[in-house]
This record gives sequence, C-alpha cells and structure tokens, in this order.
Amino acid sequence: MRASIIVVIGLLLLSSPVSSLNNGLALTPTMGWLHWERFMCNTDCDADPENCVREELFMEMADVMVNEGWKDAGYEFVCIDDCWPSMQRDAEGRLQADPKRFPSGIKKLADYIHSKGLKLGIYADVGTKTCEGYPGSLGYYDIDAKTFAEWGVDLLKFDGCFMPDWRQLGEGYMNMSRALNQTGRSIVYSCEWPLYEWQHQQPDYEPIRKTCNHWRNYGDVYDQWTSVTSILDWTANHQKILVPMAGPGGWNDPDMLVIGNFGLSHDQQQTQMAMWAIMAAPLLMSNDLRKICPQSKELLQNKEIISINQDSLGKQGYLTLQVASFEVWERPLSGNRLAVAVMNRQEIGGPRRITINDVSLPSWKICNPKCNVTQILPKYQDMGIQSRVSEIVVLVNPTGTTLFTVNPL
Ligand code: GLA
Repeated sequence: MRASIIVVIGLLLLSSPVSSLNNGLALTPTMGWLHWERFMCNTDCDADPENCVREELFMEMADVMVNEGWKDAGYEFVCIDDCWPSMQRDAEGRLQADPKRFPSGIKKLADYIHSKGLKLGIYADVGTKTCEGYPGSLGYYDIDAKTFAEWGVDLLKFDGCFMPDWRQLGEGYMNMSRALNQTGRSIVYSCEWPLYEWQHQQPDYEPIRKTCNHWRNYGDVYDQWTSVTSILDWTANHQKILVPMAGPGGWNDPDMLVIGNFGLSHDQQQTQMAMWAIMAAPLLMSNDLRKICPQSKELLQNKEIISINQDSLGKQGYLTLQVASFEVWERPLSGNRLAVAVMNRQEIGGPRRITINDVSLPSWKICNPKCNVTQILPKYQDMGIQSRVSEIVVLVNPTGTTLFTVNPL
C-alpha cells in the first residue's frame, strides 16, 4: 500500500511539467539597475569620485530611483557588479568590501537600500577569481552565500570567469544555488552558466532553469548598435532552444539596457526597449540615472512597454517573419493578447512601410471577429478596431521599431 502511494506520487512528480527554479522569485523578469556597463571597474575614487565604484554611487542611484519615478515604474534592484571586494578575504575566510570605497560595509549599504524600499544585488564568481581578478568563490560557496544573506543581499549575479575546469561549471552553479537556498533568505540568482558553457559545447538548459532565476547566454552588451543587433541575431538564431526555457521564475538574460548612455540613437534605444520587452528579458539598466536625458527616461519608464515585459503569462517572444529589411517579432500575452514589434534593420534611407495583415502576420487571426490595436512605439496611438481582413500599414525608421499590441474583442 505504502509503496504504491510512493509510486503514484513519483509518477505525479515525473509527469508534472518541468519548471523553473522553485524559489518563488522572479515570477516576472527582474527590474533594476546594475553598475557594470556604465561604470565598469572604475576604482579611482581620488581622481573620479563621481563615477568610481563606491558606496555613494549605489546610495545616490537609490535616491534617484525613489525620487524620480524609477521605483514607481517597477525598477526595484540596485545591483553592484564586479570590483567591489577587497583583494583579501578576512581571517574567517569571508569576502569583505574594499575598505576605502565601501567604508560602511555592505550590510549598512543594504540597510540603506532597504530603507528606500529597494533591494540590493551583489556580484561574485563561480571560479577562483572574478573577471577583473578579485577573489572568486570556488571553495567558499557556503561561506559566501551565508555572508551575502547576513548582509541582507537580495540578488546575486554569479559570473563564470576563471573556472579551472569548465566541466565543473554546472556543478559550481548548482552548489551555489543550494547554498543560497540553505541560507533561508530570498536571493534572486542570476547566472552566466550558459554563456561560459557555449564556449565549449551546447548547454543543456533543463538544469540551468532549475538552478537559476535568469541566465546570460551571450557576450557582454556594449553601448553600441552592433552589440544590440548581435544579441538580437544570436537570440533569433537560437530561439528554438531559448524560448521554451523562459517562464515565471526563469528568464533568458540578454544583458543590460544601455539606454540613456552615448552609443545608441533614440530610434535604437526604442528598439532595445521594445525588444527586451518582447524577449521577456530582465530590465537591468546600466546608465547614470543622476544625469539621464528626459527622452531616455520617458522611454525606460514607459508603462505600456514595461507591462509587456512584465506580462503574467511569462512567455518569451520570438522572430516570426523576415521580409525585406524588416523583422517582425511577436510575444503572446495574457488574455489572448499579442505584442508585435516591427524592426527596420536597414541603416540607410528614411522610414519604410510594411503592411501587417493575416498573411504577413499569421497571429493576426486573433482579430476574428475583431480586435483593438494600440501602437506604443514610436509614439502612443490608438489604431482603432480592426478585423481579420483588415490590414494596417506601419512606418518604421531605420534601426527603429514600431511596437503595438493586439487585443481580441
Ligand atoms: C563579465 C560579465 C559582465 C561583467 C564583467 C565584470 O564580463 O559578463 O556582465 O559582470 O564580467 O568583470
């Protein structure tokens, strides 16, 4: 009797759909700010106090996030990347923050961030050293997880540099996941496991999504249009593998938003924002919120785009059509709705037009009998009630994106 109950429970477990890391976190993609792309490993606080990696940088960012609408828009995590620790562990083998740049320590910083109603992210590495040569966590996973939990850290970005044997990447990432879990504190786990494994072989994504809340697949984003397009191209080329892995609790991470910096035109910034929403990507901005221009701020705080990104269905979008210079991507949304992004990849000439109908976009059939179409980018516009036989013409700037939603009636 007892054995058969166990068999039945076992079968139930086996037949339940394989799901993401079950720590109750990241049910929608993580939103926040991460220092890396904009501030990198600037540790020269004597020469450049405003832009070096020190506790004030994170406190000031937190202040702005609360005072200027970022928190209200959903950006919640203030994340430290590489170059925060001291080069030496303490006498008990614990990581410690660089005493000159973080004189109050990470615990105090976490308290400050929490007092603002925000959450703190930190960075460590699965191998012997971080990518910038600071102490790695190999051999210290339990101690480091415990230290982060004691400090009140809410997210760990775990990098994959300096792993002596790449075949142990998976084991390392899984052990850190377990160590974090054992602390009893809720800590979002952001991995780079697949990125480092792709350098040797195609990763098996099932263990990855059971271990991590999001995972980087591809190289670092730069403040540059070709970097954004290379991430999009790589994602489209691997969408058969990647798209089914995403869902509440686990997301593909195409890296930071570089909107508000120096390298992207406004059309290109709109493309990054639209496509990161379509890809159900974590929205981790890396920019200087203390000096961002109003146009980039408005784009990053756009409620309609954020609500596509955060849609509760949690399905990642995909490239559905390539025609002439256009790429059409779609993302199924809750309530049988659809988000559609039409990107113009041509980098010469002016705005180009494309007709959307049930031939160019098979999902247009959700407009049966009728649907409501709302354009969100390049600017908000009600496109009225459409039917299955209607067609709409959209105009897209070079390297820009037109984003709209389709709501069946
Ligand atoms: C790697 C990661 C980046 C950043 C740097 C820090 O390159 O992919 O996102 O964390 O390391 O050194």
